[in-house]
Amino acid sequence: MIKVAPSILAGDFSEMGKVVRQLEEAGADWIHIDVMDGQFVPPITFGHQMVEAVRPKTDLPLDVHLMVNDPEKQIEFFVQAGADCISVHVEAANHLHKTIHSIKEAGLKAGIVLNPGTATHTIEPVIADVDFVLQMTVNPGFGGQAFIPSALENIKRIRSMIDERQLPVDIQVDGGVNSKTAIQCIQAGATILVAGSAVLGAQDYGEAIAQIRG
Ligand code: DX5
Ligand code: ZN
Repeated sequence: MIKVAPSILAGDFSEMGKVVRQLEEAGADWIHIDVMDGQFVPPITFGHQMVEAVRPKTDLPLDVHLMVNDPEKQIEFFVQAGADCISVHVEAANHLHKTIHSIKEAGLKAGIVLNPGTATHTIEPVIADVDFVLQMTVNPGFGGQAFIPSALENIKRIRSMIDERQLPVDIQVDGGVNSKTAIQCIQAGATILVAGSAVLGAQDYGEAIAQIRG
């Protein structure tokens, strides 16, 4: 089963409660929440207060993508705020194993994230410990960027790594995902598709989500 996780980064910041309710009604599986700190990536978006604010507005899992340095400092805040999934970048986490386990011990799903230029073997020591691997298909920091086709090779490598070990680990993709690139990601082995502008920029969110799901 393919899941679609629209990113609220592309939504109206003055109406976030409404945005998540509309996405739930439109058939979204998860709500993707892009947290940026102005250090790991240039922009600053929002912190755990956004999760706290939208938590009462939807029953869908809230999927927090931490684009921050030292993500271990943030875990407790996001757990308390009501997140269901937290993913951390391998490039940003100095204590990757410890951070993943603190997410799991809190009862949440844990994900590890790779930038398009990061070697996939860096996740081998922890792949059995996570619920999903997020392969970025753009360089993180901004919505609305063009899909980077070479990231498809990384998805295939991660798929082999998971299948060889027979692990129940999902592959999430994020960046430039639309109805066309989604098919390529699914064929390469992805199971959870994040989409910002392709959903929130559409007239009909439901139709956009269904097209991405394929
Ligand atoms: C990029 C973010 C993405 C972004 C995706 O740094 O992690 O989640 O919101 O936006 P689109 O789908 O527009 O590329
Ligand atoms: Zn994201």
